[in-house]
Amino acid sequence: MKILLVDDDKVTLSLLEKSLRSQGHLIVSVSDGSQAWETVRKEHFDIVISDWLMPEIDGIELCKRIRGAGLDHYIYLILISSQDTRADIVNGLKAGVDDYLTKPINIEELKARVEIGQRIVTLEHNLKQRYQDLARNYYQTIHMFTQLLEVFDERLGGHCRRVGRLCLQMARVHPGVSDKQYAKVEAAGLVHDIGMVGLPPAVYSKPQVAQNAEEKQLYRSHPERGALILDQVDMLKPIAEIVRLHHEQYNGRGFPDSLAGEDIPLLAQLVSAASLYDDLRHIQGLSPDDIPEHLQRTRGYQLAPEMVDLLLEIHVELIEKEKSVNDLALKVGQLKEGMVLARNIYLKTGAFIMAADTKLTADAIEKLKHYVRLNAIADRVYVHKVSSRS
Ligand SMILES: [Fe+2]
Repeated sequence: MKILLVDDDKVTLSLLEKSLRSQGHLIVSVSDGSQAWETVRKEHFDIVISDWLMPEIDGIELCKRIRGAGLDHYIYLILISSQDTRADIVNGLKAGVDDYLTKPINIEELKARVEIGQRIVTLEHNLKQRYQDLARNYYQTIHMFTQLLEVFDERLGGHCRRVGRLCLQMARVHPGVSDKQYAKVEAAGLVHDIGMVGLPPAVYSKPQVAQNAEEKQLYRSHPERGALILDQVDMLKPIAEIVRLHHEQYNGRGFPDSLAGEDIPLLAQLVSAASLYDDLRHIQGLSPDDIPEHLQRTRGYQLAPEMVDLLLEIHVELIEKEKSVNDLALKVGQLKEGMVLARNIYLKTGAFIMAADTKLTADAIEKLKHYVRLNAIADRVYVHKVSSRS
């Protein structure tokens, strides 16, 4: 165990150090509460043994600070006191103290109390390990559902996978979503259309306007069907309600509950917005330039205005990122006939000289070389990666 000892009495400190080191513990010693607080914030300790009465930060205050620090591991706290009255002990327990030692310190008692601390810290460590295993299993289960969806229908599975990713991206920039909700909204996005499994292909592959009455009715049942599936697994219950509400609309004309405005839970609004965006880009295949206009049309109708703003912001980021992946930066001397410009070319003065999507001819390349020789353009031109391979 790594133990921090805190005492302004050098004799006590040396006695504690010696006996605990002989037990194989790693010991760090400091002589006051302020140093102890600084040290705890910088290093990982399993146990802190601190004197009660110290100037500035006393033992109780140190306990309060450690308990309030939101550390990612448990520290077992033992206070050393000569004030072993009932009132003192109650105050200490309220501040988060785990155990006491009274002066003069009995070494055998010290060892026994540290062993209790060691048991508690080990239990906490094992519990944390189990929790991490559980969290890993949770993610694996969710991803397995998405993979099953992909086997059932590749397009539907791909849609869910992208929506899960987008939900997480949106959640991270939305001020109303806490860190603890990220995994929940990502999971809901990954399986939001699971209720489509088992429905006839026409229900999920046809645009809604082309569906007959029966297909429409089945389509409208998929959020509730999905929620029913998820509700059967305890650890998936928290996302079932988000999935059930992912087709509600801001104007109250969605389904199944016709909720409106802020009555729609925020996480369900995020899944709904992410799903709509993915539908525009990857199912309907709209050009990135047309997306903003389509998103604006949903403002205050299908989506809350803040969701539209969030999507517009993320859309710009996604397009920039895709460009950087799909575009190849070349020096003008490396350009070849047939390559296609990925971005507009401007003079350093700002004047436009060549448009994105221009297929380069020998003349166009010569023109660009001329501009480079004049130092009128940057010697860095972006072409589509695909065109550079031909
Ligand atoms: Fe859906």
